[in-house]
Amino acid sequence: MTPSVGSSVPSGRIRNTAFASKVMSADDAVKYIQPDDTVAISGFASAGTPKVVIPALADKIKNTRANGSNFTINLLTGASVSTETERLLTEVDGIALRMPYQSESTARKRINDGRMDYVDIHLSHVAQQVWVGYYGQVDVAVVEVSGITESGELIPAASIGNNKTWLDVAKKVILEVNSWIPEAVEGMHDVYYGTALPPHRKPIPLTRVQDRIGQPTFRVDPAKVVAVVETNQRDSASPVTPPDAISEAIAGHVLEFFDYEVRNGRLPADTLLPLQAGIGNVANAVLGGLDRGPYKGLTCYSEVIQDSMLRLIKDGTVAHASSTALALSEAGIEELTANVDFYRNHITLRPQEISNHPEVVRRLGVIAMNGMLEADIYGNVNSTHVMGTKIMNGIGGSGDFARNGYVSLFMSPSTAKDGAISSIVPMTPHVDHTEHDCQVLVTEQGLADLRGLSPRRRARLIIEKCAHPEFRPMLNDYFARAEAMPAAGQTPHILDEAFSFHQRFLDTGSMR
Ligand code: COA
Repeated sequence: MTPSVGSSVPSGRIRNTAFASKVMSADDAVKYIQPDDTVAISGFASAGTPKVVIPALADKIKNTRANGSNFTINLLTGASVSTETERLLTEVDGIALRMPYQSESTARKRINDGRMDYVDIHLSHVAQQVWVGYYGQVDVAVVEVSGITESGELIPAASIGNNKTWLDVAKKVILEVNSWIPEAVEGMHDVYYGTALPPHRKPIPLTRVQDRIGQPTFRVDPAKVVAVVETNQRDSASPVTPPDAISEAIAGHVLEFFDYEVRNGRLPADTLLPLQAGIGNVANAVLGGLDRGPYKGLTCYSEVIQDSMLRLIKDGTVAHASSTALALSEAGIEELTANVDFYRNHITLRPQEISNHPEVVRRLGVIAMNGMLEADIYGNVNSTHVMGTKIMNGIGGSGDFARNGYVSLFMSPSTAKDGAISSIVPMTPHVDHTEHDCQVLVTEQGLADLRGLSPRRRARLIIEKCAHPEFRPMLNDYFARAEAMPAAGQTPHILDEAFSFHQRFLDTGSMR
């Protein structure tokens, strides 16, 4: 039984009287959201996105627009939210400013058309930037939870993201209590309340992936909670396609690299060091290949948990995985919900300021593995801007892990768009990760270990190991002529040719 609208009788997922009295419909709840409000919502890679309040808000915006007024909000999230949610708000032109990450085609187009402001920042920085007020006052937080305890604490859902921060800083809070989430998730979360602004910071006492340093619930000031809305809707699935030959080849090079590091005494033999893998099919293929190796009891310290992780946990390859969100396919959601008692002992979900925290990533010695659009011959990496101008998704957590990891790998197919684009170029027209943050580059062609190498040596190795054979002669020619210039310098370039691959693509549709 659940409390009826307006009832003050606690029952079901809402075990607290004060909260039970605030139950209302989504349409009523959105009355608390006004034009120009900054609205911070839960959600990280689909998981935990509010299911009913945001669609009701999109309707309200649409109706207001039909009456001639301009209703937009500034939207803050953990990272990407469910595709439907991103699309609903974008299609009604409801978002003036979006922060910190998106990966949806309608939003991407609005941003690239200059119709939506987008601030793309490191995910570990979001909480701090909001506390200090870079985005002004957060007017309303809309946060999905799986339940409310007798004492009024909130049991998180399938992601944590920035929810602790949203609940702390927002003037008003709308809660969505989702009874679709198995009650047994209670206890999978570790919400740390020890972060602060300088000069009051203390070391974060997390020294092992499985450490619990916080509490299983969020705190919220009940006086700020203006509405409680009940739902019973599934999280959207994160699609996963089976690895293709290219992803398998990249994964093969990465797994060989781990063996090489173990043989050289730089990684512990059975357990390596905590793994972080970005989202996507290459990351899934690398993780999926781990159980073919000699490893047992591995750990992962990452921002999302994908399907491959569940299998690795089940067969004992991975002992514990820490992240801020689950990003599972339909099959993965089924597997987790059917066996949540088992997975709860092997998975910890944390606020993203902790899952991505530079201090913790450095201390644990994380092996960072992220995708990229392109790299240049010296190892500068572009993860975000196609042809240097058009945003794809955003930097996400890649920079948090790449700069602070024990070793940092960037991975990509050697070509894109049916071979028209080389992912190794003379100079990247946008840089997310500098040559100082990229230690290993991997394509299906091979792996370039850049550690300890000067720029010119890196260039030779990247072209030889990572570039597609069709582009290798052009890259060698560019580098040879750059190196032969009288003032070649430490990092030789021919400046009026450095973007010639990109210009050729824009002019002819191919870098060839
Ligand atoms: N130029 C233009 N387009 C390119 C390209 C390039 N150099 N390289 C790839 N693309 C296109 C692909 O063609 C594909 O396009 P499509 O969606 O129209 O088919 C798209 O980019 C995705 O490429 P894909 O090869 O499928 O890789 P992916 O799914 O692994 O994504 C990134 C690669 C870089 C977009 C992705 O890793 C990303 O957004 N990274 C930044 C955030 C991040 O690392 N987060 C994880 C931190 S934990």
